[in-house]
Amino acid sequence: MESQSERPWRIVVGVTGGIAAYKAVSVIRSLVLLGHRVDVIATEHALRFVGRPTLEAISRNPLRTDLYENVATVQHVALGQQADVVVIAPATANTLAKIANGIADDLLLNTVLASRAPLVVAPAMHTEMWQHPATQANARRLDERGVTIVGPDSGRLTGTDEGPGRMSEPEDIVAAVLATARAGARDREERLRGRDLEGRHVLVTAGGTREPIDPVRFLGNRSSGRQGVAVATRAAARGAEVTLVAANIEVPEPDGVNVVRVSSAEQMATACLELAPRQDVIIMAAAVADFRPEHVLDGKIKKEQTGDALTLTFTKNPDILRSLVLARVPDQTIVGFAAETEEDDDARLELARAKRERKGCDFLVLNRVGWNEGFQREDTEVQIIDERGEVVAESTGEKLSVADAILDVVARER
Ligand code: C5P
Repeated sequence: MESQSERPWRIVVGVTGGIAAYKAVSVIRSLVLLGHRVDVIATEHALRFVGRPTLEAISRNPLRTDLYENVATVQHVALGQQADVVVIAPATANTLAKIANGIADDLLLNTVLASRAPLVVAPAMHTEMWQHPATQANARRLDERGVTIVGPDSGRLTGTDEGPGRMSEPEDIVAAVLATARAGARDREERLRGRDLEGRHVLVTAGGTREPIDPVRFLGNRSSGRQGVAVATRAAARGAEVTLVAANIEVPEPDGVNVVRVSSAEQMATACLELAPRQDVIIMAAAVADFRPEHVLDGKIKKEQTGDALTLTFTKNPDILRSLVLARVPDQTIVGFAAETEEDDDARLELARAKRERKGCDFLVLNRVGWNEGFQREDTEVQIIDERGEVVAESTGEKLSVADAILDVVARER
């Protein structure tokens, strides 16, 4: 399920003349129910499969079909320019061929040509038409041009035949449209923002430390490393020289980033303190264990030896963030994280302010965690507080855009 906080996109849905047009109604309905603004453009042929009243009622907007309607508002240019994403579902072989060749002989094709928004197409046709070398060549051209092609799926077609050519399921199309809209918005923001961290040295920690108990067991936490990896990814995209100190991350290492793999808090401390003097910015997103078992046993603990209860003694780990703040070099910006389970917003903010003061970092990123919040998830919600304890930024959504919000604060400060 999409996060409810996803920003509302302006989406143009093009419907072309194939039997799968009836499934376009579900695509439109889902997008509208998720809070997005949908403008539907149907071709003349599409209207033989699905009626104008249906498309207008479901999209809650007037249907557009004719290039020569409302000429004064130049609707194909207006719709194309305002759209965050354009999706064509179903996209017939004829439509794919025309888009691949830049043909614009109806309102939908004019809109596609007049738009800089990312394009998603969901082809739907008989297997022979999909596999025809002409269609395959057109699809390849669209793919090379950065168009997102969803499907087609393989399965039951209109008649009794089966094979590739069936339009993807509406939920898959909706997911692709939203992912494409987000990626498009990120590209736009990136073009505006440029490479504002060019040449900066940025150290990021990610993941959760594991504190060994014996050769096979450890004490760990549920951090997946997603947020730290997202910060490293975005910092590199914004031009920084990034070193990622990764503790047991569950997501792939980002490209273009120097990765140092560690496991325990002590290993992370050693790596960070060694790297720190060369850094302009340090962002401590990792979940570091506060304690480790005092003694690591050489052999596996056996239940026959322990009886019904097992007592372990723990000793305090170094506070890496605090050590880095104490060893800080001039002009270095240090960002800490606080994951709090406190449910009351004000009380949570107070905890974060106190933590920022204890740690002495420049900024603290506060997020709420719980059994179903924060960890292991693709999206998150954070508040960023500064040295005066003021909330200088708030960000909700994908961890990549939250990463950008954190880096925006750092870039502004520098
Ligand atoms: O003290 P607490 O764990 O709540 O603080 C969280 C922040 O401190 C995070 O930025 C985390 O990476 C860092 N930390 C650390 N060393 C520890 C514990 C936490 O650097 N031993």
